[in-house]
Amino acid sequence: MMALIDLTRGKTASPEWNASVTHVMPKTGAHGLLYDEQVKAETDHLYARVRHVITPLEWPAYAPLIAAINRLKVERDAVILAHNYMTADIFNCVGDFRGDSLGLAREAAKVSAKVIVQGGVHFMAETSKILSPDKTVLIPSLQAGCSLAASITGADVRLIKARYPGLPVVTYVNTTAEVKAESDICCTSANAIAVVEAVARDWGVDRVILLPDEFLAKNVAAQTKIGIISWHGKCEVHEQFTADDIAEIRASHPGAIILAHPECPPDVVAVSDYTGSTGAMSDYVQRHKPAKVVLITECSMSDNVAADNPDVDFIKPCNLCPHMKQITLEAIYDALLHMRHEVTVEPELAARAKKAVDAMLALPPAPAGRFDPARRVPDTLELI
Ligand code: 13P
Ligand code: SF4
Repeated sequence: MMALIDLTRGKTASPEWNASVTHVMPKTGAHGLLYDEQVKAETDHLYARVRHVITPLEWPAYAPLIAAINRLKVERDAVILAHNYMTADIFNCVGDFRGDSLGLAREAAKVSAKVIVQGGVHFMAETSKILSPDKTVLIPSLQAGCSLAASITGADVRLIKARYPGLPVVTYVNTTAEVKAESDICCTSANAIAVVEAVARDWGVDRVILLPDEFLAKNVAAQTKIGIISWHGKCEVHEQFTADDIAEIRASHPGAIILAHPECPPDVVAVSDYTGSTGAMSDYVQRHKPAKVVLITECSMSDNVAADNPDVDFIKPCNLCPHMKQITLEAIYDALLHMRHEVTVEPELAARAKKAVDAMLALPPAPAGRFDPARRVPDTLELI
């Protein structure tokens, strides 16, 4: 069941606020950092990107941390990779590279800074470390896990391979390094259909193992002739959306365009207008500029896409990812200040996992938007 969670502290905010903040400055903020003239000068231009979600009254609580993080990034030679589910303050004001998990993995592979701070969850930080083993990779909170990554182990994959010899294992990037190391190729929600078809072609088979997300696997199976064997993992955020939620939204917001993430159940995808990765949803809004849109995904996504699309009306029913929300400005500041929560992956394991991630990155970029809502999940799908 969908929750009407509003993380947008300034939802009542009006877009006509002046980007130049001139109200009373508090003496101290978080960590004893001051909102003073220097911080104001360093951050006023950033406020313009978040003023639709942060009120002028709240901004002085954010700005000192934002300024301090941006200074620490220079001192430490660090970059922040910010996933689309980061809150607007992180995404817009301290993130250096922003995007979906595929985009962030591509950035991690070519980053030149010495330090990567992962604005995302642990599996994303592990992917960064696997792709950039010489960099120091920091995760601001050790609590930032993922229900999909927790759903399967390397030992599970070894058992599955023994049961289905000769079939390639395609693993969603939302998995641990140990699971990636047992896989032939990785995929993300942006390229899952293309990866499944490419690996089946390369191996000369008509079935592949696609782990661990049951709903992503079903949604992919509906779009391809390749037979899919999958696992029962689920995203705790997207599994909560139902087809009834979509019907309610359509009834109360006629004309709204509904975009869903492929981790949603297939009956949600079937009644949505478009399904794609977080990056694909963002591109859709940018390209089509619908008058009214609903993003069936994590709560922060709408705020972040809204920053670049001020004329689009975002209706915001969403579910919260408790893992993504562990990453806060305070946690990022502490991570950079103390260089803490370094993510390491044992080199032999990392080398095997890297083969699977590299195999995915070597494929040409896939065209977005191939989840046709009219296609149904075939009975041939096998769930382990
Ligand atoms: P994307 O790959 O679409 O960014 O999704 C990552 C994720 O964690 C979705 O829940
Ligand atoms: Fe994992 Fe779902 Fe959170 Fe993404 S939204 S990190 S898949 S629990």
